[in-house]
Amino acid sequence: MTTAIIGTGGLGSVIARQLASGGETLRLSSANQSAGTLAAQIGRAAVVAVDNRDALQGTDAVVLALRFAALKGVIDEIADSLTDKLVVIPSNPLATDAQGNVVRLLPTGQSSGEVVAEWLPTGAHLAMAFGTLSADLLESSSNRSPERAVLFYVTDDDRAGKQVERLIRTAGFEPVKVGGIEQSGRLEVGGDLHDLVVGPTEAQSLIGGT
Ligand SMILES: NC(=O)c1ccc[n+]([C@@H]2O[C@H](COP(=O)([O-])OP(=O)(O)OC[C@H]3O[C@@H](n4cnc5c(N)ncnc54)[C@H](OP(=O)(O)O)[C@@H]3O)[C@@H](O)[C@H]2O)c1
Repeated sequence: MTTAIIGTGGLGSVIARQLASGGETLRLSSANQSAGTLAAQIGRAAVVAVDNRDALQGTDAVVLALRFAALKGVIDEIADSLTDKLVVIPSNPLATDAQGNVVRLLPTGQSSGEVVAEWLPTGAHLAMAFGTLSADLLESSSNRSPERAVLFYVTDDDRAGKQVERLIRTAGFEPVKVGGIEQSGRLEVGGDLHDLVVGPTEAQSLIGGT
């Protein structure tokens, strides 16, 4: 199947390599040159799109691996192409200020998932996923043996759940649903399920543990 990845920086490039290794065909897009460079590295499984809208052509799903501050603009740009597509968002609501400090862009208690759900057009199927681990941990935890590592996700949408589970498995992880979008704060930076590399049994006990 074919998935678009918009944003091929630190995180998007890892997701792209893992999905391609698992057999997914990719259409990549970025602001500057990184999508082209990555497509060339991946080879036949990936093509670079002309622009963000072109990336969605013929795809079932799109991963928006973008910094939170860029998300709304890109969603508005591609909104009319999102009908019936799975939209996977890994973004934490963070930015770096002029002094180099990491700052939170949303009030405490408001999650990226809840805000993004309001930005998406009707007909898009949202799952928050692939943002629970740092890019390095994501890269090193794929296809772990003997037990796969878990990637947690949240969604309000059964169809999105099935589709994102397929992508998570393709990337070399075991999917575990935490709940609806109202639970997405648990996955984000500062949440109790963020940056944990655990197997399925521990994951289930953690989900029920709060
Ligand atoms: N990095 C991590 O360890 C990590 C872990 C968990 C979650 N996350 C989340 O993942 C998201 C991405 O983080 P990152 O570290 O991968 O950021 P990043 O390295 O800065 O990459 C951002 C990507 O977005 C692209 N981009 C920016 N504006 C765009 C636009 N208008 N249209 C298309 N592409 C655009 C950039 O293109 P160019 O490359 O061409 O400039 C770049 O490829 C963030 O929200 C972050 O919270 C990151």
